[in-house]
Amino acid sequence: MRVGVLTGGGDCPGLNAVIRGIVRKGVQEYGYDFVGFRDGWRGPLEGDTVRLDISAVRGILPRGGTILGSSRTNPLKQENGIRRIKDNLAKEEVDALVAIGGEDTLGVAARLADEYGVQVVGVPKTIDNDLSATDYTFGFDTAVNIATEAIDRLHTTAESHMRVLVVEVMGRHAGWIAIHSGLAGGANVILIPEQRFDVDQVCAWVTSRFKASYAPIVVVAEGAMPKDGDMVLKDRSLDSFGHVRLSGVGEWLAKEIEGRTGKEARTTVLGHVQRGGTPSAFDRWLATRFGLHAIEAVRDGDFGKMVALRGTDIVRVPLSEATAKLKTVDPKLYEEVGVFFG
Ligand code: F6P
Repeated sequence: MRVGVLTGGGDCPGLNAVIRGIVRKGVQEYGYDFVGFRDGWRGPLEGDTVRLDISAVRGILPRGGTILGSSRTNPLKQENGIRRIKDNLAKEEVDALVAIGGEDTLGVAARLADEYGVQVVGVPKTIDNDLSATDYTFGFDTAVNIATEAIDRLHTTAESHMRVLVVEVMGRHAGWIAIHSGLAGGANVILIPEQRFDVDQVCAWVTSRFKASYAPIVVVAEGAMPKDGDMVLKDRSLDSFGHVRLSGVGEWLAKEIEGRTGKEARTTVLGHVQRGGTPSAFDRWLATRFGLHAIEAVRDGDFGKMVALRGTDIVRVPLSEATAKLKTVDPKLYEEVGVFFG
């Protein structure tokens, strides 16, 4: 059996741990051969491969990023994309493919499996933790730890100058990083994409915090939007690669707070720092288990499935289910943390 492996979409701490789990178990227990495809779906599309054996995965467990490279290439949008992928898989004598990725990468994997008979197993990844088929994705815990540490640090500088510190964290469609890091870091306001926010209410919370002689920290997810006005929508432009770029909510909000409260405000945009560097122990644990279970699914011939965490168990779910629904923050949970606002 020869197995191809690829990592697609935005990178994520723990990708190398998955690859290592797959290769170690595949070689040592099942005697499989592996080939890595470079840069997500671009690899099989263009026949761009990399050696993937035991020595290639040595020492990569604590390394961030992905040794295979990643991209957001979508073969379904390319001329003869599916044909080219099938031809290159045949040329490389690949019997099965493990695709590690988020919504887009797994969406392609689902169609390849269901409509074109490609033998694919999926592994979910995203720091945003917004895939509904799995309780957690690796990368999320690392991102939350990074954001929490940043909030801890921002508290001391905010207090020294009695300023408002607005921290913009990742989370395009879901506020998981914002709500987890905001709660863990003792933020005074947490704004998420699931609920439009009222700027006057935010300013009231900020003012009440100053009255209690504390400097407020406002955590805002990059996809959060104000109730009225379309300022953030205007900033959702496409870059030259056709990717949606969110920008500006943190900066915009700090200006609004300054204007409406008369208090000095600063913004920190954490950006890709949240995706870089070594994975946390939890993410290494989860990613390794995903890798071990993914190659077991290949061994069982259980294709068209994705591994997922349910409670403490790793289960297999149909790939088509994997991307069907976005997992967003429950309004009840948001209400629960709201007790700390102000
Ligand atoms: O999907 C994960 C994510 O980190 C989002 O939270 C963020 O909006 C996006 O990726 C950024 O993508 P890029 O690396 O293409 O700028």
